[in-house]
Amino acid sequence: MQAQTEPPTPTSSDIRRLAAADRKALAALFERIAADPAARQFHPHPFTLEQAVRIAGYQGRDVYLGLFAGDEIVGYGMLRGWDEGFEVPSLGIYLHASIRGRHVAGDLMQALHRAAARNGAGRVRLKVYADNQVAVALYRKLGYDFTAEEGGQLVGFLALAPGTQPGGGHPTDAQPADDRSAASTRSFKQPGKSR
Ligand SMILES: CC(C)(COP(=O)(O)OP(=O)(O)OC[C@H]1O[C@@H](n2cnc3c(N)ncnc32)[C@H](O)[C@@H]1OP(=O)(O)O)[C@@H](O)C(=O)NCCC(=O)NCCS
Repeated sequence: MQAQTEPPTPTSSDIRRLAAADRKALAALFERIAADPAARQFHPHPFTLEQAVRIAGYQGRDVYLGLFAGDEIVGYGMLRGWDEGFEVPSLGIYLHASIRGRHVAGDLMQALHRAAARNGAGRVRLKVYADNQVAVALYRKLGYDFTAEEGGQLVGFLALAPGTQPGGGHPTDAQPADDRSAASTRSFKQPGKSR
């Protein structure tokens, strides 16, 4: 009998912007998310076929990334809010259970941070339930400051400096140049909507 081999762990080169051609793979992932009890803590939008088609075909300022394992999408990340007029995008991530615990989440976070910096964001925000210990630990490790609460969730901010890869614990990663604590308490006195 042949020994079962673990599927290879995806890397940062397997992360890319979602495109219309990915709608079937995205719909399959959304179906898994809708059935995943862990995803009760992840509800940025409904996980339906309609949403998969909309997001795969989406063209706008917001960013939707997929983490690919062959033809399958095993991770999903988003930066939203720009289209609605917010200055600071909101980040969300999900990994399929089969690849959790393999330190891939950090790669997906870094890719989102880079996309946010490229699009001119000074910082990113996210919401997380305090009892989602893995997610909270991940975000803290990446440098997020949790300074507020909204709708029963912690609200975290991370300051970004253009051209840097904040957090992540890799020796080659540059840290954000600006003062995070000052940035996280700075009010949004820029044009555009604030939260
Ligand atoms: C949140 C999520 C993306 C994290 O991915 P993951 O692969 O499970 O996380 P990782 O293995 O990379 O672990 C991240 C960190 O969490 C911490 N961690 C891991 N397991 C933990 C546990 N059981 N308890 C506390 N902390 C834990 C560790 O600090 C770890 O970092 P380190 O081992 O490098 O020091 C993933 O669990 C997921 O998709 N969950 C469901 C959806 C979700 O909750 N999304 C976030 C909504 S805000």
